[in-house]
Amino acid sequence: MGCCQRRTLLKRAMGAALYAGLLPSAAVAAVVDPRKLPPQIGDELVYPSWEQENQVIAPADIVRNDPPILGYPRDPATGVARERSRLNQILLVRFDVAVLDDATRARSVEGIVAYSGVCTHTGCGVSAWNDAALHFVCPCHGSEFDPRRHAYIIGGPATRPLPALPIIVANQKLVINGTFTDKVGAD
Ligand code: FES
Repeated sequence: MGCCQRRTLLKRAMGAALYAGLLPSAAVAAVVDPRKLPPQIGDELVYPSWEQENQVIAPADIVRNDPPILGYPRDPATGVARERSRLNQILLVRFDVAVLDDATRARSVEGIVAYSGVCTHTGCGVSAWNDAALHFVCPCHGSEFDPRRHAYIIGGPATRPLPALPIIVANQKLVINGTFTDKVGAD
C-alpha cells in the first residue's frame, strides 16, 4: 500500500471516529475546528435565538406536552458553540415518562427527549407541531412523527424516523450522552 493510500485511509478512519464522538477532545482539537463538529458526547444544549443566544437550556424550560424547543450543542469546556448548521438542530420535548416506549425512555431524561430537527424525507426543517396529537410535523410535505415512540412515522412521505439523541441532566443542564441513532437528514 502506498503512502498516499495509507493517508487517505487514516483520514477516513479519523472522520468516522469524529462523527461517532470517539476521539479524545485533544485529538479532535488538533484535527478539526470544534465549531464544525456535530453534537459530541458531553456537549450542553443552548438556545439559538437572538434574545437568548448561547444561554443554556435548563430541564425546567421544557414544559410537558408543549411544542418543541430548538437547541444547539456547545462544548462546556471551551464554551465553543457548534456551528448553527441545520444538521446540529436538536428538537427537545417533554412527556410523562409513562407514555414513552422503551427505546425512547432509555434515551430520555425526566421525560425529555431529543431528536434531529431535519426531516428524513428531503431535508426540510421539522418546524411545525401538531398540538392535538403531540407530533412533530414537517411543513414541506406533511410528514408527521411521534416523539413518544422513537419519532415513529405517523403519516407523509418520510420513510425513516427522525434520528434520536440520548441526553442526561448534569449540573442542572441538558447534556448529550450519545450519538444520533441514525444518519441525520435526507437519504
Ligand atoms: Fe419533510 Fe418532505 S421534507 S415531508
